[in-house]
Formats: sequence, C-alpha cells, structure tokens
Amino acid sequence: MCSELQHEVIRLRERVNERLGELVPPEDAPPEQLHKAIRYSLVAPGKRIRPLMTLLTATRLGGDVEVGLDPACAVEMIHTASLIVDDMPFMDDAEMRRGRPANHRVFGQDVAALAAFDLVSRAFGTLAGARGLDDTQRTELVRLLSEALAGEGVIAGQLHDLQSEEREPDPERLKKMYEQKTGALFVASSEAGARIARVPPEWIVPIRDFAMNMGLLFQIVDDLLDRFGTLESIGKDVGQDDGKTTLVSVLGPEEARAEACHRLEAAERALDPLGPAGRPLDEMARSLLGPGMAATLRG
Ligand code: IPE
Ligand code: IPE
Ligand code: MG
Ligand code: MG
Ligand code: MG
Repeated sequence: MCSELQHEVIRLRERVNERLGELVPPEDAPPEQLHKAIRYSLVAPGKRIRPLMTLLTATRLGGDVEVGLDPACAVEMIHTASLIVDDMPFMDDAEMRRGRPANHRVFGQDVAALAAFDLVSRAFGTLAGARGLDDTQRTELVRLLSEALAGEGVIAGQLHDLQSEEREPDPERLKKMYEQKTGALFVASSEAGARIARVPPEWIVPIRDFAMNMGLLFQIVDDLLDRFGTLESIGKDVGQDDGKTTLVSVLGPEEARAEACHRLEAAERALDPLGPAGRPLDEMARSLLGPGMAATLRG
C-alpha cells in the first residue's frame, strides 16, 4: 500500500517528466544532433529528487504546484547538465548513466559539452519565463540557482573532487566538497520551493540547513551504492570511486552509514523552528529516500 505522500511523489514526478518534455525542443528541430543529445539525458529515467524537493517544499508549505513546476524543471536541467559533465572522460569517465550509455559515448564529447551548456542556459530561460512568480521571487530563484552552480557551488565542488586525488584524505575537507558538489543544489531546490510558498523569512535558514543535510546524506548513500550497488539497480557504473578518496573510503562503510543516518537526524532536527509546519518536510525526507536508499542505510 502506498501512503498519500508516496502517491503525491509519483504524481509530481510524472508532472515533472511531462513538463521537461515540453520545455525542450523536439528531436527533429534543428540542430537535431544537439536536441537529440539534450532529450537523451534530460528525458531519461532520473529519480527527480531535486525537482521533487522544490515541488514538495512548495506545496507542503502552502505554495501552488503550477507555479513550482517550471522552477522545478529548471533545477532538473541544471542537475542533468552537471551529470553530463561529471561523466566525461576528463572527470569520472563513466560509461553508463540513467540506465543508458553516457551522453558523450553516444553523441561525442563535443556535442555532450554543448548539450550541458544548452541545458544550463535553458534552465535560466525557463526561470525567466515561469508563470506565477512575482519579480522578487523570480530574482531570488535566479540568484539561488546561479549560486548553487557558480562560486561555492557545484562547479567548485567538482573541481575539488578532481583535485582530491592529490591530497591527504581529510574528512572535514571531504565534507566541504560534498556540501558544494551535491549539497548546494539540494539547498537551492528546497529554498526555491520555500520562496514559491512565501514562507516566513525566519524559516529560510532552517530549510537550507535541512536541505544541506539531505544533500550530504544523498552523496554518502551514492558513495555506498558505488561500492555495494549494481549497474542494474542504480543504472550507472559502480566501482567508479575505486581508488578515489570518498567518505566511504576514509571512514569505512560502517562509519559512513552512521554518518548518513546522523545527517537524516540532523535534517529532521533542522526543521524544529518550523514547529508542526515542518512535519510534512520531515515525511518528505524519508519518502524521497525510497526503499533502495533506505536499505543501503541499514547495510
Ligand atoms: C547523482 O544524482 C549525482 C549525485 C549527486 C549523487 P542522482 O542520484 O539524483 O541521479 P539521478 O538524477 O537520479 O540520475
Ligand atoms: C557527482 O558525484 C556530483 C555531481 C555534481 C554531478 P558522483 O560523481 O559521485 O555522481 P555519480 O555517482 O557519477 O552519479
Ligand atoms: Mg563525480
Ligand atoms: Mg560520477
Ligand atoms: Mg557517485
């Protein structure tokens, strides 16, 4: 039996998938090769966790799903672009993504890089055209997504990831890298939802704190899945992190699992200032983990 929240997650995921398909040109629109490459990665079976965080945060705090949909899709475009780049030979040199060969292995590195560039630009264009946002909200969302990528965000995190090989393993530095490469977009996704719901200003910091802990939790679970998962279950290469410094290699799997559980508790605690209004987000955190991730946490 599915809970009401699980039904809502399924419904919202479908809405996101449908809308993503509308927001990018058809495959046969010129330049066909670029549009094929964009669709190939974007309209692929991703879990849609980040757009769901935007939409569920918005709707569970009183916002309108119709207003949240395009910003949620913008978040997913940025995330997909980051995956295309992450898989390239100069980064992780991955073979598989979302159950299919990585973008550059089908379209070539040149087209893959341009597809990622297109998706990032398209994300900001999507925010510019999103209906139902007032000027202040739109500006805030643009700033949020920009900060999640640039500066101390995903791009800095990926750079530190590339350079981590050359350094002495240090859990604190790794945590900072995870905050940037993964946490930053989780934070922007949730804050975008909160801004759409026009929450009281004093809720923003707790919601960001909640989302950062969720991001760290997800990256640790991702590292555990890299070690213990299968290509069939996660749809992407496993063993990518062999020989690499991750929290799992530094702490060991048991301590990494404990750290992930600690992050889930910290995420829930972060919502305390919201009182009962925070409970739906708490439920959301557990629901987004899904059975596969929850099982990984149990070991
Ligand atoms: C993969 O993200 C990259 C990480 C930051 C761990 P997801 O596990 O959310 O990948 P998709 O979107 O479902 O493919
Ligand atoms: C990547 O982390 C995080 C991004 C910003 C894309 P990983 O390199 O561990 O992600 P996967 O395992 O390839 O999805
Ligand atoms: Mg990587
Ligand atoms: Mg990778
Ligand atoms: Mg990984």
